[in-house]
Amino acid sequence: MAAHLDLLNGDIFMKMPLVSKLIEYISNQPLPFHMPGHKGGRLFPDELPRLPLMDLTEVPGLDNLQAPSGVIRQAQQLAAEAFGSDACFFLVNGSTSGIHIMMMASFLPGDKVLIPRNSHKSVWGGLVLSGANPVYIQPKYDKDRDLITHVSPKAVKQALEKNPDTAGMVITNPDYYGLCPQLVKIHRILGKSGARLLVDEAHGAHLAFHPDLPPSAGRCGADMWVQSAHKTLPAFTQSAYLHVRKQYVARAAQVHAVMQSTSPSYLLMASLDWARACMQEKGREKLDRLLGIISRTREELKKLGLDCMENYSRPEVFMADPTRLVLDVSGLGITGFEGEKILRQAGIQAEMADSRRLVLICTIADEKEHFDKLIEACRFLAQNKRKKSGKPANLTISREIPKQILSPREAFERDKELIPLKEAKGRICGELLGLYPPGIPRFCPGELIDSQGIEELMENQSRGAELFGIKENQMISVVVE
Ligand SMILES: Cc1ncc(COP(=O)(O)O)c(C=O)c1O
Repeated sequence: MAAHLDLLNGDIFMKMPLVSKLIEYISNQPLPFHMPGHKGGRLFPDELPRLPLMDLTEVPGLDNLQAPSGVIRQAQQLAAEAFGSDACFFLVNGSTSGIHIMMMASFLPGDKVLIPRNSHKSVWGGLVLSGANPVYIQPKYDKDRDLITHVSPKAVKQALEKNPDTAGMVITNPDYYGLCPQLVKIHRILGKSGARLLVDEAHGAHLAFHPDLPPSAGRCGADMWVQSAHKTLPAFTQSAYLHVRKQYVARAAQVHAVMQSTSPSYLLMASLDWARACMQEKGREKLDRLLGIISRTREELKKLGLDCMENYSRPEVFMADPTRLVLDVSGLGITGFEGEKILRQAGIQAEMADSRRLVLICTIADEKEHFDKLIEACRFLAQNKRKKSGKPANLTISREIPKQILSPREAFERDKELIPLKEAKGRICGELLGLYPPGIPRFCPGELIDSQGIEELMENQSRGAELFGIKENQMISVVVE
């Protein structure tokens, strides 16, 4: 490391802003409670220093991701067995590309698809690419915790009754907070009308490896599901798995070949193979240990007066992933954003913060000593309690689903212009627009912007909430009419 820092002072590194920032960051890095799940390569094999040599191409003896017949095929087959699918496709552009592939493989232009409004933005990419038409469903809202949870089975049933020709649904399991929807019930309801269940399991690649974790989408009857190995397993960023059932293999293979690079990184693919083997061999034992340490950590944090949202339960939530540590710091009279900063000062980097909470990603690469350091940092956090504690005001989040004028694909294809948000009434939204967090769009591409929505966005913004889809000078993208 010292040698790197010497070089950093040299001219050449100063001409590489990205490289020099990375070197600087890793030399002072806070303890990572965020992705990637390998946490600085803690569990990687001894061959790690030889990684540059393994950055190869389709030389004889290696294989071709576009049409695998050798080692990639074997590694994918082993992954399918380990995760309980009929076929697994390696992805080198994250779950984002897997979500695009499963939607393109499942839906034709004009097909109706149930989409919870709290879906990740890649799902909107999937709507554009497939040409499918969304039937949006609002997830439930927990007013006490100011938290958007999941769509209920009842809401899915009602949407299907109104739209009996629905081709399928895309749903997230678990979400960023580790909350899982009632997937088995939703699968049963969809099955009655022959609609497919596609699951964004970006945060759930570890679920299949321990019985005390929520069941993985594969066990809940999903037709296709996508997992970011890099989020919760010891794998490199961008590495992910797409799992499919037998009847969709041929179509998924066709789309996968179109959507993946013809020069996929062997390093990413190798880390997918590594992460699978690691979980298969040691996952149960290491998760056992992790769950024990997290449970003891929660006990310690509770003693410090922190709310770990333990035993969180709501009818629309099947269960919470116990490996996801969510700290509600609103009782300390601080926001999650402030809490995140305080933890950083104490040497810990969380994955995410919202107005009330901090989210920490814990994986089998975390050891007891790391949690001890976290407890110490939280002691410091608890000392930062404000005198006047009290819950922050809830965000004003409407349950309305705006009128859809154009499909996401039509809106994507049309010309756009930038206009001030406050003048956008009556225009068609050009890009996802909403509050972050929670990251749920108030308006989706193709939807009619109304005055109530504009007022809501501006009011929340004036209270400190951030908007996404907003450009400089409060401009937003709308469709040219
Ligand atoms: C719920 C969810 N789905 C999908 C994705 C996309 O995953 P990736 O970053 O692997 O492309 C993310 C990324 O954070 C996510 O949070």
